[in-house]
Amino acid sequence: MIFNTEQSWGAVAKALHWIMAILILTMFVLGWVAVTYPLSPTKLDLFIWHKSIGLSLLGLVCVRVIWRMVNTTPTPPAVVSPLEHTLARLGHATLYLLMILMPLSGYVINSTAGFGFRFFGWVRVPNLIPANKAWQDIAETVHFVLFIVFVAVIVIHIAAALRHHFVRNNNVLTRMLPSSSIPHEK
Ligand code: HEM
Ligand code: HEM
Repeated sequence: MIFNTEQSWGAVAKALHWIMAILILTMFVLGWVAVTYPLSPTKLDLFIWHKSIGLSLLGLVCVRVIWRMVNTTPTPPAVVSPLEHTLARLGHATLYLLMILMPLSGYVINSTAGFGFRFFGWVRVPNLIPANKAWQDIAETVHFVLFIVFVAVIVIHIAAALRHHFVRNNNVLTRMLPSSSIPHEK
């Protein structure tokens, strides 16, 4: 099933969720390694990969938001209280916001540093705004703070998903897994 249904996430939503989850976790490691790597051609390559995958994620989140808007979303299992449902929606909205702000703040660092780069070494990426050291410092702080907040929210998100599965024994996790097409309701 390509589209979401009342019972489960469709193939496109699942693919976007898991491809983006893997890429975002890779970006945390890649960003950290690139920043701490000694100055060398390899460091520059690590940054080209970091920035190119980051801008790809910015494109993917736009596709994901549009896909979500034109689709229905699965209803929560009956055992989920209205308060839990509201908290889940708040958490998911925060994750969407972070998926947008994280690459945007990175793009601002790159532009204010006046440091051009080629997307996967291929097409030159235009700078958003002129070079400015003060703005670059602010954008670097914002990018770092967002990284810490992102990690914290993802840890809570994963813990909530595992709690649904192992403690509450409902189908919230299984209906997001690539393999499940026939959800069980509890
Ligand atoms: C979801 C997307 C992204 C994630 C998860 C991410 C994550 C990170 C992390 C963990 C770091 C190391 C910690 C830090 O110093 O802030 C970092 C650094 C950096 N990122 Fe990203 N990033 C993303 C997108 C981007 C994009 C799109 C660009 C540029 C086009 C970018 C440019 C940079 C730069 C220049 C640094 C070094 C900052 C410094 O020297 O303080 N990032 N990123
Ligand atoms: C970088 C990592 C991740 C990000 C950014 C992320 C983001 C999101 C977002 C935004 C949603 C809401 C979908 C929507 O309402 O449109 C969602 C749903 C979900 N995520 Fe993640 N996720 C990540 C990793 C994970 C992991 C590792 C797991 C499993 C342990 C997981 C399990 C789930 C489940 C089960 C749902 C469906 C919740 C429901 O049906 O209401 N996620 N995720």
